[in-house]
Parts: sequence; structure tokens; C-alpha cells
Amino acid sequence: MRGILISIEGPDGAGKSTQIALLKEYLEQKGYESVLTREPGGTKISEKIRNLILDRENMEMGREAEMMLYAAARAQLVHEVIKPALEMGKAVICDRYIDSSAVYQGIAREIGIETVYQINECAIQGIWPDLTIHLDLDAEEGIKRKKNQAELDRMELETMEFHKNVVQGYRTLAKRDPKRIKTIDATLSIEEIHDQIKEYLEKILQ
Ligand code: TYD
Repeated sequence: MRGILISIEGPDGAGKSTQIALLKEYLEQKGYESVLTREPGGTKISEKIRNLILDRENMEMGREAEMMLYAAARAQLVHEVIKPALEMGKAVICDRYIDSSAVYQGIAREIGIETVYQINECAIQGIWPDLTIHLDLDAEEGIKRKKNQAELDRMELETMEFHKNVVQGYRTLAKRDPKRIKTIDATLSIEEIHDQIKEYLEKILQ
């Protein structure tokens, strides 16, 4: 069996975790051994970088350092988890991947998508997702959902304008690469979203 990489993307509060759990179950029914991971994080080193990035104490972090820390966390995850799992024919589900950097750092922080890709080229070692699910949700709704959960992290504390740029950024990116990135309305029911994800997945498994 050929390994596959599926990334789940979307603005904060889009409901990625719920869908990821359902997707993992589905892939296992299909006979895939699946690996679930998240960005930034997923390895001991990457989780340490995650804490550094999201810490509310680090408000002075510049956008370039932020971009490179996300890329460093990703590089370690690819090296330690994603690449070996794909080589073993597993299905890897990643909660955020390179598109998060393209949108948050490239578009919302205005570094530019091309610069983000240049920096990340080395981190991902040519490993692009076979399928990316983009859960689309307006910024106000996403942040409202987040506020009902835990204490907001450094990124979630950003302005509403920033979060709106993230939402728009994902829509722009999905239009640029419609073959790989599939957009689903995150206000649909959990079941409806899962069904759409299954449909897209079936197409790439053929
Ligand atoms: P995460 O904990 O997955 O947030 P959520 O639960 O909302 O999905 O991600 C942490 C934050 O980091 C989130 O606000 C998105 C941001 N982020 C970037 O800015 N660039 C990146 O490359 C990645 C992977 C995440």
C-alpha cells in the first residue's frame, strides 16, 4: 500500500480536531495504518518549538523568526514522523502543514507566499499532501468558538483584521491549487463535513 499524506487546514476554531478523529477511524476501516499528528508539534523537539511560538510571553517575536520557527518544527516532524510513516505505506493525517505557513505568515503577516515556500522547501523535503481539506469559516465565528474553549494563545490574540486575512488567505490559496486543496463549509454538520471528506478521499484512493 502506498503511503498518503492528508492535511487539514482552516482558521482557528474551524473544527479540525473533530474531523481528524473521524477521518482516522475511516482510514483504519479502509485498511490503512494511520498516524495522526499536528503542527506545530508532533515530536519532542517540535512541541518545544510550539511552546516557544505560542507563548503569550513572547509578544515581541518578529514575523521572520516566527516563520522560521514554524518551518523548523515542520522540518523535524517530516524527518522524524511523516517521511518514515509514508515510506512504510501508512496514512498520515496532519492537523495543519505548509499551507498554514503560506496563509498565516505569507499572507496575513505579509511576508509573501513565495518566501514562505522557499524557506519551507528544505523543511518538507519535497513531501506535499496528496489531499488538503480546507475547513472554511468566517473569522468572527472561529474566534467565538475558540473563546468558549481555553485561554487564547499568542496567535489567537491577534486582531480581528488578522484573522479575517487568514480566512481570505485560505480562500485565495484554495483557488490557486484546486486540485489538491478542497474547501468545505465548516458550518455544516459534523456528519455532512465527514461525508464530503470521504468523497474527496475516495477520489485520491482510486
Ligand atoms: P493550532 O494549535 O493547530 O491551532 P488551532 O487549534 O486553532 O488549529 O495551531 C497553532 C496556531 O499556529 C494557529 O493559530 C495557527 C498558527 N500557525 C501558523 O501561523 N503557521 C504555521 O505554519 C502553523 C502550522 C500554524
